[in-house]
Amino acid sequence: MNKKYVFANWKMYLDNDESLSLAAEFANEFKNLPENIKMAVFPSALSFLSVIKPLQDAQISVGAQNVHWVEKGGYTGEVSAHMYKSAGAEYVLVGHSERRHLFHETNHQVREKVEAILSVGLTPVVCVGETGKEREENKAEEVIEIQIKSAYHNIVWPEGRDIFVAYEPVWAVGTGTPCDPVEAERMHNLIKKQVVALTGITPVILYGGSVRPDNAQKYLNNPDINGVLVGGASANFQHWKEIVESIE
Ligand code: PGA
Repeated sequence: MNKKYVFANWKMYLDNDESLSLAAEFANEFKNLPENIKMAVFPSALSFLSVIKPLQDAQISVGAQNVHWVEKGGYTGEVSAHMYKSAGAEYVLVGHSERRHLFHETNHQVREKVEAILSVGLTPVVCVGETGKEREENKAEEVIEIQIKSAYHNIVWPEGRDIFVAYEPVWAVGTGTPCDPVEAERMHNLIKKQVVALTGITPVILYGGSVRPDNAQKYLNNPDINGVLVGGASANFQHWKEIVESIE
């Protein structure tokens, strides 16, 4: 059976009470998901510890939206991969476009985070994507190749651990303008080829960027797209339910 991944990135949308009540709704609705659907939620750092129990009791994984690459130390305001591991996380988003573009995270920092995440036994979900300008200038492939290469070149990948990549074109994230599914498929195939060439492992590749109930099925039912990473629509119970239900 073709496995599908539905990952919910709650970004900075929900306060603690809202996170708790949405987690309870998710847990109640999705506690008996079929085995071919894997759901994970990425709550805020603040709400992580409140939502982890109800979600994990319902077999929903929980991940971090971001980590620092050092294990412990004087880094005011940061949370390390080690800390998330000790709190029960499974996945970590790395290099999300909002981190790269609003907080100037570099490919080098993304690589440091990937290594830190692997070293504590968590699974990084590396987000890659070109800006609208880069796409207009026909540089999309080149930008993605550089991002992928710096994340995975010469990396020692732990045996049995999946490689997760999210293709999230910057111009599609949070804009209401999703990438055409045929073009997303083309980019996914390009990413797959490159990751296999660098690591010998076939990656799980998710699409992200303005996935909504009315377009989700075009991504989720494409055999070359392993799932979706959803921001805005995942912070709304009804929208998220419709997205998950669109898996055929
Ligand atoms: P969006 O965000 O669904 O709100 O476009 C996607 C993401 O940032 O992962």
